[in-house]
Amino acid sequence: MDVQHLAIIMDGNGRWAKKRHLPRLAGHRAGADALDRVMHYCKDAGIRYLTVYAFSTENWKRSKLEVSGLMRLLSSFIKSKAKALVRDGVRFRVIGRRTDLSEKLQREIAALEERTKKGDFTLVVALSYGGRDEIVRAAAKFSEALRLSGDDADHEQVFASCLDTADIPDPDLLIRTSGELRISNFMLWQSAYTEFYFTDVLWPDFGREDFDKALEAFSMRERRMGGRLK
Ligand code: IPE
Ligand code: IPE
Ligand code: MG
Repeated sequence: MDVQHLAIIMDGNGRWAKKRHLPRLAGHRAGADALDRVMHYCKDAGIRYLTVYAFSTENWKRSKLEVSGLMRLLSSFIKSKAKALVRDGVRFRVIGRRTDLSEKLQREIAALEERTKKGDFTLVVALSYGGRDEIVRAAAKFSEALRLSGDDADHEQVFASCLDTADIPDPDLLIRTSGELRISNFMLWQSAYTEFYFTDVLWPDFGREDFDKALEAFSMRERRMGGRLK
């Protein structure tokens, strides 16, 4: 089975910077470069969807300096990459509680989503994203969606259509960098049968070899989805 959708918890930017006696924001900048690289590895590997966890609903707890630096970085990522994304056929999408973001950033996101909507490779950026928050927002839409879809609709399918990821398949593989062994509120619903891969490598250092190793590990997994071994 191939990886159609890869999800990544891009963790370890702060520790990467600390090791180099740099400010945390320098780590986040190096993290943005890593994302650029990994997106190309994904395209080479025939992956169709890449979802990256960029900012969680809990990350608002960080210092004002770090939060505003991250928001500026996102805004400049959008501006500096827009042309290349259109050229490379990348469809840009944001999931999460986007009303938490500044109106300016919301407008920049919406404009880039519109400009890139024809792309055949989808980059999903999780921003002010929490799996629980997404589920709660979906629950608020659920009964109306159910009413519209009729009595014999599959309730799980209808619920999934209320999530931010409505038109995106569940991730096949989830990579978390930096040695932390937890999900930290990422894609709780969508990762029901996702294969997990953890590596000690810090996100800004994540390179081609690390990517290949993760895909190799995935290829050895036996995905049974609750069924029987053949
Ligand atoms: C991940 O790196 C990026 C964000 C959460 C925005 P961290 O900033 O969490 O880096 P560490 O975990 O402190 O090393
Ligand atoms: C998860 O990393 C969020 C992102 C990578 C954006 P954190 O660094 O915020 O997670 P914890 O605090 O280690 O669980
Ligand atoms: Mg972290």
